[in-house]
Amino acid sequence: MENQLKETLNFIKGQGVENATVGIILGTGLGGLVEKIEIIKEISYDKIPHFPVSTVESHVGKLIYGKIDGKTVIAMQGRFHYYEGYDMKQIAYPVKVLKNLGVKFLLISNAAGTVNLAFKKSELMLITDHINMFPSNPLIGKNNNEEGPRFPDMSCAYNKKLNKLIEEIAQEKNITLRKGVYVSVSGPNLETRAEYKMLKLLGADAVGMSTVPEVIAANHLGLPCCAISVLTDECDPENLAPVALKEILAAAAIAEPQLTALYAALINRL
Ligand code: HPA
Repeated sequence: MENQLKETLNFIKGQGVENATVGIILGTGLGGLVEKIEIIKEISYDKIPHFPVSTVESHVGKLIYGKIDGKTVIAMQGRFHYYEGYDMKQIAYPVKVLKNLGVKFLLISNAAGTVNLAFKKSELMLITDHINMFPSNPLIGKNNNEEGPRFPDMSCAYNKKLNKLIEEIAQEKNITLRKGVYVSVSGPNLETRAEYKMLKLLGADAVGMSTVPEVIAANHLGLPCCAISVLTDECDPENLAPVALKEILAAAAIAEPQLTALYAALINRL
């Protein structure tokens, strides 16, 4: 194992964090899940050796270790985005850390614009597949064969068992859950009308600026993962209205209780 990773893990384990079952990346729309965690330990990212530090105002940066329904979880409150200036390896690094802390599953959330106009603002979309339109990839460079294969398979990047459970829970709880393809773009600008049109033609249902690097890293590490998008804006190229961050956050806040309930129930069944 690289020295850097060893130092990160030693520090986190030294804080009493160990043997978690579930890793969670709390993107927009999942802040409420924190309230369900019986917190054992919180560690600010800036204290963790070699951990990147979040720069976006709407994201806090800490690891939260605790229990939900008796299951031990490690949640990342705040994630790293390509548009902040991090490289892909930095963005994927926490996934490697979570895997080495023992997590067996990785649950992800994000905010995304809906390109599929049958879907509406503040609905949830279970990601079934993705298209990586970032200009890079976290696995570029020398491969560490102990971590995973040089050419990882992506034929089922979003774990079928997890997705099936999520669909069952949504049905039981009467939560509208859309399913679709997420396209990742670098951002930070939202798309032009022509770009939304192009993304739709490419097969996108939703578009966002995160998640794909973490999912690529998880697949490389053999870590089963799932991701749900909170749809925050309707990307209709023919009737595109300007969208402000405030509106995106407000739309995400409406969906938050449902996403929290879905993931809390999923964790209970893992
Ligand atoms: N485009 C890209 N990222 C986003 C959007 C969008 O319309 N909405 C929320 N995140």
